[in-house]
Order: sequence, then C-alpha cells, then structure tokens
Amino acid sequence: THNYLREGKYCYKSAYGIQSHRCIQATPTLLCNHQCLFCWRLQEKDLGLPPIWQAGPIVFDSPEELQAKDRLLIEKATEAMQNAYSPYSRFKVGAAVLLTNGTIVLGNNQENVAYPSGLCAERVAVFAASANYPKEKILAIAIVASSEEFEVKSNISPCGSCRQVILEYEKIAAQNIRILLAGAAGKTIVFEKAADLLPLSFFEEQLKKD
Ligand code: THU
Repeated sequence: THNYLREGKYCYKSAYGIQSHRCIQATPTLLCNHQCLFCWRLQEKDLGLPPIWQAGPIVFDSPEELQAKDRLLIEKATEAMQNAYSPYSRFKVGAAVLLTNGTIVLGNNQENVAYPSGLCAERVAVFAASANYPKEKILAIAIVASSEEFEVKSNISPCGSCRQVILEYEKIAAQNIRILLAGAAGKTIVFEKAADLLPLSFFEEQLKKD
C-alpha cells in the first residue's frame, strides 16, 4: 500500500471505494478493532462477534510469554499452594494477591472436619489482604491448583462465591482486578477484571428502593 501511494498508483482498497490515505492502518489485515470511519474491513459486529476487547480471556501458552510481574505472582501462588490445609479433598489451591503498594498476600484452601466450615484459597487471600491492608487496592490475583491424587490438567477457576467476593473488592475500589488462572501444564488464562468472570451479578443498588 505504501509503495502504491508513493508511486501515485491506486491501491487495492479502491475496489472497496476507499482512498488509501483514509486508512490509517495500511495493512491487508482482515480484522482490526480501530473502527476507523472509512474502514473497508469487516468489523466484529458485521460478523456477529463481540468486540475484540471484550472477547474474553487471553490465553498464554507458556510462562515465558507472561509479563514478569504476572509470572512472579503465579510463583507466589504456587508456593502458597504447597501449604494448603486440605486433608479431606487432598486438593491444594494457592492464591496470591498483588496490592497497589506492591505487597503480595498469600492464601490457600483451609479445610475442616466439618466440611462447610472450610474456605477456598481465593477468599483466604483476598480477606487477608483486606484485613491487613485495608487502604490498598487489589491489582491482581493468581490462582493455581494441584492434587495429591491425580494430575490437575486444566486451569482451575474460582467458585461462584469467590467470584462474588473478588468482584466486591473490584467494585468498591473501582480498580480492575486482573485474574490469572495458572495451569500445571504452563498455560495461563488471564481475565482483565473480576466482572468478566461474573456477568449479570447482583449489585448494591438492587438492595435499595428507588
Ligand atoms: N477450592 C479452592 O480453594 N478454590 C477453588 O477455586 C476451588 C476449590 C478448594 C475448596 C476445597 O478445599 C477443595 O478445593 C476442593 O473443593
């Protein structure tokens, strides 16, 4: 396209009725989310797809692809996981929460002989963070799991109650909480915010009479 412009020729976009200089991203890529006024490309909405930036989690195939701070948080969650108290399920979950002051708070699942009295790793971690650092906001949480009985192949994701709890901290702080679901096989699934994990959630205004 650039050469065509320099040499005063018409580029292939003329076939779409678009002048080349109107296209700010001079590439033949078929999907682009810039949504330029004169774009000749198909947009996600034309294809019935959600916009790219709302299309769900980003999947990283190996830890090397992650940002260093995400990798560190996953390492901390893995350390926390070793100390889970889970003699009944023999399933260990670790969570690491990153705060705005850089502190990392750890949690792991704590079980009890009266089964329902136990608590998931995620809630142990975020409650500890809120209890000990009430003024800090939560920036991210990494979650990892393993079993003493079998190989945990998939990335585990927080249960409904944990999603509800994480979302509350995201809402009151008006700060997205990045959710890193780390898998034993090295794959990591990243959600930009807790709200992505709990759509159509119950919210405070619903408690009030208008
Ligand atoms: N568990 C967690 O800690 N987090 C999750 O996201 C799922 C489940 C714990 C609860 C229980 O101790 C064990 O894993 C088996 O359910």
